[in-house]
Amino acid sequence: MTARTWGVLFAMACLVAVVAAQPACKKKGAEPQGTAPVADVAPLPPPPAADAAPAPAADMAPAAPDMSNEPLKPLPSVAELNLDAQRVSLGKRLFHDPILSADGTLSCASCHSLDEGGADPRPHSIGMGGKEGGIQAPTVLNSGFNFVQFWNGRAASLEEQAGGPVANPIEMAGDWDLIVAALGKDETYVKAFEEAFPGAGINPGNIRAAIAEYEKSLVTPSRFDAYLRGDTAAITDEEKAGYELFKSVGCVQCHGGINVGGAMYAKLGMANDYFAARGGEITDADLGRFAVTQNEADRFQFKVPTLRNIEATAPYFHDATQEALEKAIAAMGHFQLGRELTAEEQAKIIAFLESLTGEIPPEARVTNPALANPDPAPARAEGAAPAPAEGTAPAEPAAVETGGAAL
Ligand code: HEC
Ligand code: HEC
Repeated sequence: MTARTWGVLFAMACLVAVVAAQPACKKKGAEPQGTAPVADVAPLPPPPAADAAPAPAADMAPAAPDMSNEPLKPLPSVAELNLDAQRVSLGKRLFHDPILSADGTLSCASCHSLDEGGADPRPHSIGMGGKEGGIQAPTVLNSGFNFVQFWNGRAASLEEQAGGPVANPIEMAGDWDLIVAALGKDETYVKAFEEAFPGAGINPGNIRAAIAEYEKSLVTPSRFDAYLRGDTAAITDEEKAGYELFKSVGCVQCHGGINVGGAMYAKLGMANDYFAARGGEITDADLGRFAVTQNEADRFQFKVPTLRNIEATAPYFHDATQEALEKAIAAMGHFQLGRELTAEEQAKIIAFLESLTGEIPPEARVTNPALANPDPAPARAEGAAPAPAEGTAPAEPAAVETGGAAL
């Protein structure tokens, strides 16, 4: 007998078993996707097309389906992370405080607003003095689950990363000595540092550690996480179909794990040459991991970005070339997988990706009006109007007074 015949027999046996309410076939990959695992619960053979008694039990099944073999993993809750509440609170204030930039006009939130999915809606962030950066700003949401930071992975941790923009001349252009001195003049900061880092006071390492602790709290559980935890009704059939497609065409090879990405490097242009098709000059930002290692094999290798909250973080790709999500998905199909996805397939995948949009913990937001809009560029702070057109140069550096502000 051939393996195939065995397969057919097995499938038939499963069918019989399901009807007979035997759990025996559960472990095989043979269960029909999107159908509730009736076999576990139904005391009776499910009467076809009956909306009566046993049907609803399927969704409420006490034994949730086992999702532990899925290539995507649910986010832990913030509570499970055991973060230091005082550092998170101090980090939240620092993240939103333009005191970290040389002329007091830019905070981390200027380019990573929580109201913009933690990313920058402008193709290139505008740093101090209107200087334009050469790469798109990715989201800080769930960044604690990335295996390295930055598109090219040049920072190993959030603590290390947080030092980068502060001193970067085209970002905040800050000077650590001046920042430490400025913070030290503010009694509320002195007190907050003493509580968060007893006996250690204010220093660059503690500033970075507090910001990193806050970033780790930016965890955004979504409906898809509920699904991964066994709530089969948390996502729609269309979203499930999109997820199946995401797996079957191979997106999940790179965009896997807790962050649906963030766990490996991959070459942009695995199947087709991305940069030849894009045209234009190859910039330093395009070199990817090569810029860090000088190793030829690393040319055009990028950290695979997270796809959580992706609908909120356009434009896409390190070079911000894709404005629309369907374009980004089509480009991924073509350049990474050598596969032309149809409009219908793109739509299914988008439906799935939208189920990854999560809730930002309410306590992560700033409520103090003095810090709520520290941003001379687009007004994107809480409660404010949506961002004006992207690419807007920073206008009126509205000398924001934040000294002494508590949250
Ligand atoms: C002027 C705009 C700007 C400011 C201000 C800014 N960033 Fe960024 N941020 C960026 C850009 C652009 C990148 C991508 C740089 C790269 O990968 O080379 C980035 C990358 C990051 C990343 C890496 C995310 C990832 O997935 O790799 C984190 C985390 C981050 N920033 C946090 C911060 C913090 C914390 C601050 C404040 C101390 C800050 N940023 C200030 C523009 C900015
Ligand atoms: C071989 C690995 C690989 C595969 C397969 C892959 N991706 Fe990607 N994906 C990447 C990398 C690397 C990037 C970053 C591109 C860049 O640096 O500009 C990316 C970027 C993206 C982005 C933009 C993210 C952002 O924040 O800008 C989306 C959306 C995306 N991928 C979706 C998909 C989908 C959908 C599929 C399946 C059709 C897929 N990817 C397949 C590696 C991969």
